[in-house]
Amino acid sequence: MFDIFNQPSLDQKTSELLREEFVGDDITKMAILVEVLHYHDHLYYKNAAPKINDQQYDFLFKTLKALEAKNPLLILPDSPTQNITLSVDDNDVKVVQHSVPMLSLENSYNADDLYEFDKRIRNLLKMDNILYCVEPKFDGSSIALLYQNDSLVRAATRGNGTEGEDITHNAKMIRSIPQNPAFSSLGIDTIELRGEVVIENEVFRKLNETRKEKNLKTFQNSRNTASGSLRMKESNEIEERGLEAFIYQVGYVVDAAKKEMLGNNFVSHFENMQMLHRLGFQTPQKEKKLCNSIEEVIQFCNEWEGKRDAYNYEIDGMVIKVDDINLQQKVGATGHHPRWAIAYKFKAKKARTKLIDVEFQVGRTGAVTPVAKLEPVALAGVTISSVSLHNEDFIKEKMLKINRYVFVERSGDVIPYIAAADTDNDDGTEIDIVFPSNCPTCGEALIRPEEESVWRCINLECPSLVEEGVIHFASKDAMDIDGLGRDIVIRFLNEKIIKQIPDIYLLAINDTTSPYFEEAKTMQTAILALDGWKEKSLNNLIKGIEDTKNRPLWRLIVGLGIRHVGVIMAKKLDKQIQSIYDLKDWSIEQLTEIEDIGPRVAQSIQAFFSKESNLHLIHQLEKYGVSVHHHEGNTAKVGNLLAGKTFLFTGTLTKFTRDKAKELVEKNGGTLLSGVSAKLSYLVAGAEAGSKLKKASEISSIQVIDEDAFLEMIGEN
Ligand code: IVH
Repeated sequence: MFDIFNQPSLDQKTSELLREEFVGDDITKMAILVEVLHYHDHLYYKNAAPKINDQQYDFLFKTLKALEAKNPLLILPDSPTQNITLSVDDNDVKVVQHSVPMLSLENSYNADDLYEFDKRIRNLLKMDNILYCVEPKFDGSSIALLYQNDSLVRAATRGNGTEGEDITHNAKMIRSIPQNPAFSSLGIDTIELRGEVVIENEVFRKLNETRKEKNLKTFQNSRNTASGSLRMKESNEIEERGLEAFIYQVGYVVDAAKKEMLGNNFVSHFENMQMLHRLGFQTPQKEKKLCNSIEEVIQFCNEWEGKRDAYNYEIDGMVIKVDDINLQQKVGATGHHPRWAIAYKFKAKKARTKLIDVEFQVGRTGAVTPVAKLEPVALAGVTISSVSLHNEDFIKEKMLKINRYVFVERSGDVIPYIAAADTDNDDGTEIDIVFPSNCPTCGEALIRPEEESVWRCINLECPSLVEEGVIHFASKDAMDIDGLGRDIVIRFLNEKIIKQIPDIYLLAINDTTSPYFEEAKTMQTAILALDGWKEKSLNNLIKGIEDTKNRPLWRLIVGLGIRHVGVIMAKKLDKQIQSIYDLKDWSIEQLTEIEDIGPRVAQSIQAFFSKESNLHLIHQLEKYGVSVHHHEGNTAKVGNLLAGKTFLFTGTLTKFTRDKAKELVEKNGGTLLSGVSAKLSYLVAGAEAGSKLKKASEISSIQVIDEDAFLEMIGEN
């Protein structure tokens, strides 16, 4: 059985969330999985910097799906299984609505998965034999290219699948993207193509070499470089980045009548690719194959897995597509992926190296994590010299020893992990890894709670716990203090300028009449004496801290670092309280009455608030100006004008931004949906609304209104 807690290479936030909170009833688990998946969607789609691999993502996704299948009435509206919901930031970015969503692909990892896929397709189509087109899965950044009247009129990133960023200016600088292909010669006047922007391996290597020479930061890998380059505001650097595009799909051809005119050319994916190639596009040519059976597909995938390293582009698998476009349309798609295609993912890249030492790091919750130091080894474009070993059981299970060789794996761009030990090549110098019985930071005895696999330091004054606690308090998920990142916190603690969380607010006191002004001044003087600190940077930091004094209470709750209480739980608690002190007085029964709060979370909350030192910490925060009660400034008032109603905004909005629209809906008790379905009450359509408007007008229960009518509904017109 795949153990969710012991997943190698899970990033720290995910493993902490799963380890700390993955307890209790199904709804709690579902809420946690939704949060974890959103976090990874965000990293993948918005930051182009994933922290887990596809297999791990799939596992989390499938776990959530299984729980949802068991509890269909409890499915959360923002669950990623329902749709792709991440919203694209529109700071300065022109957002493009994809008329036809850009979906993901379902993944497969072995021959059995492919047999199953083939069986599913044959059952759906009631056919014995399916013709598949198989081609590499390029590991780059996906784009949609819109052509009208033989001109490239718009290029967009995939974004969240529904909305992407307009990157036309940069796409026009990519030589393999024709700007004036002769679609009209085929009777096409509007067509959208989809493909992947990549950088050839050799070009990428040279790019980094040049950057090194110029003392510029080198890029981590070609995928992130492609994605980052595409989104640059200015196009002047695009050319030197060496971007190329491979087209892998015709997104849509707008005019149905015109679609007819394509005649024979528009019945096969393979033929589409040939046609595009003839028009000057780069498509998989030598790399693709028509296969008459799933056995042939499997053989072709294996063949490519063997020659993957020799190929001059990064690929992470193969894509298998039903070739006949009509059959593709017959089997259709889920909200997440087309049913007519599947990705076959190659196995992770592997390297062998020696484990030379183990360090033990103490985290915020006191959990002691062993980290292996490795003889540096190159793996998939990066040098690896340390990896997390998670816990004592992992070390035992994998039979790890100091001086023993290990196989390190890394798939895509994710955190490397030890897959196995190479026990066949021991030379007698191997030494057992001894888990410390005392905290490596403060020396206090460690304990291992019965039901857990981690050893913990429970000394709340342990410098490691304090350090991680302050870092967590200031972090994005908690109080989100601008300018107070990890390195600065560590420096201030090391220099003894601050000793504990409330000192953050003490140092920011600038009011000469405050009884704490003198103390604050002393701290500020000490900061100014540090290398690199000037009046201006100090003032910025003080402002950053000041700005967080009235954060919503849930942020403060998260910041306190109560075990099992993450963002989701904190938001639930926030809704029930008037003051943080309310939590101090509630019994286990009262706490568990709150939706989704089980006995374990309740006990943890009670344990936290029964400690005098924790209450003292909250008092101090209050003393230094942090809001610990609800009031105007930190309460989101929710009205009920739109209660029970659902909304979707489409087209160009002129009266308010999308973010504002979302805020208005939520403020008035309504719910925002991400797609048109029978669940939708109102479609608010701006100018040039496209496919969503069309779809909505086919569903009689949906009311289509304009922006003014929406504002009227909430009394703001
Ligand atoms: S077909 C889902 N073909 O893989 C719609 N996708 O995980 C059909 N990709 O976002 C996609 N090479 O950017 C297809 N030969 C290929 C591909 C490919 C890379 C990317 C694509 C998509 C992702 C899905």
